Amino acid sequence: MSFPKNFYWGGALAANQCEGAYNEGGRGLIMSDVSTAGAKDRLRSITYIDPATQQIKRGPIFHKIPKGCHGIVLEDEYYPNHVAIDFYHRYKEDIRLLAELGINMLRISISWARIFPKGDELTPNQEGLNFYHKVFEELHYYGIEPLVTIVHNEIPLYLEETYGGWQNRKVIECFDRYCETIFKEYKGVVKYWLTINEINQLLLVFDFMDKNVSSGLYQNSFQQLHHQFVASSHAVKKAHEIDPNNQVGCMLCGVTSYPFTCDPKDIEANQHYWQKVIYYCSDVMCRGEYPYYAQRLWKQYDVQLEISEQDKKDLKEGTVDFYSFSYYATSCTTTHQDASKANGHFALGAKNPYLDYTDWGSATDAQGLRYFMNEIYGRYQLPLMIVENGLGTSDQCIDGKIHDDYRIQYHKQHLQAMSKAIEDGVELIAYNPWGIIDLISASTGEMAKRYGFIYVDRDNEGNGTLDRICKDSYYWYQTIIKNNGNE
Ligand code: BG6
Repeated sequence: MSFPKNFYWGGALAANQCEGAYNEGGRGLIMSDVSTAGAKDRLRSITYIDPATQQIKRGPIFHKIPKGCHGIVLEDEYYPNHVAIDFYHRYKEDIRLLAELGINMLRISISWARIFPKGDELTPNQEGLNFYHKVFEELHYYGIEPLVTIVHNEIPLYLEETYGGWQNRKVIECFDRYCETIFKEYKGVVKYWLTINEINQLLLVFDFMDKNVSSGLYQNSFQQLHHQFVASSHAVKKAHEIDPNNQVGCMLCGVTSYPFTCDPKDIEANQHYWQKVIYYCSDVMCRGEYPYYAQRLWKQYDVQLEISEQDKKDLKEGTVDFYSFSYYATSCTTTHQDASKANGHFALGAKNPYLDYTDWGSATDAQGLRYFMNEIYGRYQLPLMIVENGLGTSDQCIDGKIHDDYRIQYHKQHLQAMSKAIEDGVELIAYNPWGIIDLISASTGEMAKRYGFIYVDRDNEGNGTLDRICKDSYYWYQTIIKNNGNE
């Protein structure tokens, strides 16, 4: 396999899924702190209180806490992210293991609520800033380049409850302050940044969301997304202004879709899928303006978007330097009602009869990765980074060993697809497998859905020593890195 010289062989983590220490270091609450554990077939719920009635309620994740209510931590409830894998206290040991693995990049995220606990303060929390200084120092000690996500599925809960989150333009101001703070603080320490994790998540799920739970869903989602685009463009501009060496990328969920049949209606539906859930976001972030088909989408969903002239200018001036994405599963789009449905990892369309599905419902499709890379590179000609990819499945730890040849197989096939895309002429600069250390699943809150090359001794109920054990895949990836892609 051929990979470029100076290729980044990395791994990826996210603050709320690995750090734990949810109430230490002055950190404010975030949504995952009030999200319970779910299961393979049951999504997590959010616990909140209605102050008017003092009633404790539960709502589905991916939905907002109703206006006037507050997220609440219940004493008799288990919240997996509170401890997560305790990276906050164990980062030294973790980074040492990752250094021995041989990676030269680590994607982490900064928890906004560690820096600005409520989100709208004027001065940052020094303890939070210090924590990431220590993490970056440790990474640099081993020659590992940090890749930092500014917002990975979390904003301070206070901003959600007080301002309605991204729906409110005021949050852009708070985000701007947060960005300026971290860009100045970590100048010369962090060079690679991602603005908002899987910014297209909203569009991926909204046809499947309960419209009764979220009134004004479409209008709010598109407006919210617009605010995120504007915020992201500000971040790009500010990052470049503070340090011209900074490189900032967009981050999308790369859920590839194929037409389910050759019925022209399916072909058209599939084209519309790509426009809605992939290109709508990346056209704005890479090209700096809304694409022509945005008009059709806004009409279809009866959306009146508020866009100022200044917003348009900012979007134009704040286009990203590279394109990053996650890649887990593919799906099919169809107008045929009889097709059976898939439900793994945002791939919510029809089930593909040519692919195998994991226990958590994701289609394993390495070939689709080459397809996706060609599509995206062909459209934008920007360098690509894969910042998430992996097999979420259960592992058996027997006599202190984890023989995860299925995971090796998965990554091997994806590396082959990447290598072919590189031969096709695609410029790929990094590969960061997801959950390089086992962590809390974002969708189900489980530990059992493991992605890592490093095992963490913890179960779905929070039992276990939290000890780290290197899986067979760890030693395999070590060899791959040593030989720049070859076994
Ligand atoms: C991506 C997210 O959607 O998928 C991660 O960026 C998440 O935060 C990952 O963990 C895997 O999904 P899950 O639900 O298996 O954790």
